[in-house]
Amino acid sequence: MKNRILVKDLAGKLGESVVIAGWLNTLRDMKNFGFAIVRDRTGLAQVVVDVAQLEQLKGLQLETVVKVTGVIKEKKSKDPSIKEVEMQAETLEILSPVVDVVPVEISKPELDVQLDTLIDNRVITLRHPKQRAIFRVQAALVHGYRQYMEAQGFTEIFFPILAGAASEGGAEFFKVDYYGREATLSQSAQLYKQITMGVYEGVYGLSYSFRAEKFATSRHLTEFNQFEFELGFVDDMDEVMQHAEDSIRAMMATVERGCADELALLNVTLPPLGEKFPRITLKAALEAYRDEGGVDETSEPDLSPAGERWLSTVWAPKHFGSGFVFVTDYPTVKRPFYAKRDPNDQSNTITFDLIGFGSEIISGGMRINRYDEQVQALKEKGLNPADFEDYLTMHKFGIPPEGGFGMGLQRLTQNVLGLANIKEATIFPRDVQRLRP
Ligand code: 4AD
Ligand code: MG
Repeated sequence: MKNRILVKDLAGKLGESVVIAGWLNTLRDMKNFGFAIVRDRTGLAQVVVDVAQLEQLKGLQLETVVKVTGVIKEKKSKDPSIKEVEMQAETLEILSPVVDVVPVEISKPELDVQLDTLIDNRVITLRHPKQRAIFRVQAALVHGYRQYMEAQGFTEIFFPILAGAASEGGAEFFKVDYYGREATLSQSAQLYKQITMGVYEGVYGLSYSFRAEKFATSRHLTEFNQFEFELGFVDDMDEVMQHAEDSIRAMMATVERGCADELALLNVTLPPLGEKFPRITLKAALEAYRDEGGVDETSEPDLSPAGERWLSTVWAPKHFGSGFVFVTDYPTVKRPFYAKRDPNDQSNTITFDLIGFGSEIISGGMRINRYDEQVQALKEKGLNPADFEDYLTMHKFGIPPEGGFGMGLQRLTQNVLGLANIKEATIFPRDVQRLRP
């Protein structure tokens, strides 16, 4: 919009007549005049209106889209050290009227609604400054990831969503009718990023993943995004983990630089990073949880959600000043068919999870790159190699030693901002019950 000034820039316009545009956030009747609070994507502006303008606004619903021209003045404040401005309205124009009652009050500092109400009314609740802030931070995380990967000289790939076979094995996939044939919605870009190892050696991308989870938890969605990463000619898994760590450091720095206002509004301190993210084997992590955390899960094949939380919010901050911790050496039974086995112990894989301030945010590791090894691994998993033709084709034609990872975008956002439920970190979440809005 020509000549429009954003709310955040009004302080620099003292004494000038300017145009702002936004939503009518609140209206206060002060008898001889009124205060209209106008919200745009950068903040809230106080607009002083006269009696006639007040009457005009009173006939409107909150959230009406308005354009206001007026003079910027210093706001009278009880505390003279606080310098704020307000607008004295000259003309008011309605750009888009509201035709129904707004279902959720969004003008208060806190939304204070149940999760389902929050999501059911997303059209409106998303407008609350705290909700807006969450997805500004998410966008900054994505930006930081792209910048990091680009600086490494890696290639961004756009992965398909419609797929033939399920890439992560198991039964947690959605079936789609595809011209009378059965297709699946991609569980991850695993197959495709591995294929690109025959060309680009270093790739990344933001993929869509679908999992037909049957249960509802605070950490699972049926549709989510993954920061995908894959690297060829890798000597050992350390190289892959280093990129995971460095990309997260870059993402946090981007958020810190670009989202100071959002973090302040959300009252969030980013998780500590420490000098280096600690690395611990699954076995040692389970033992630490038993010895220091007082919970014995050493007979389990994995850490429980409570164990992951303890390791990343208690153990790692205490010993390493870091809210992120790599857990390595997962048993073969717990990892997918493409995971590289430990040459000295076939029951162990060269894989890792990164636990990030509450729960798993990354799974990654070295991949099987040779044909015979992959056929054997599929059979041992009870899978039929004939169903994995494309996987095996790639292995026939020279894939270098390689590894990579997948990092959940919504999981990372949830943990970085300390949100109780992953749906709060998902702009339009889908779960077992929900397919709207
Ligand atoms: O651990 P996952 O299933 O691993 C993969 O998909 C592999 N292809 C990754 C690799 O390159 N080896 O998923 C990766 C990450 C998890 O760590 C988690 O952050 C997120 O994706 N994730 C989910 N997020 C929300 N809802 C779900 N149902 C998720 N499942 C996984
Ligand atoms: Mg995983």
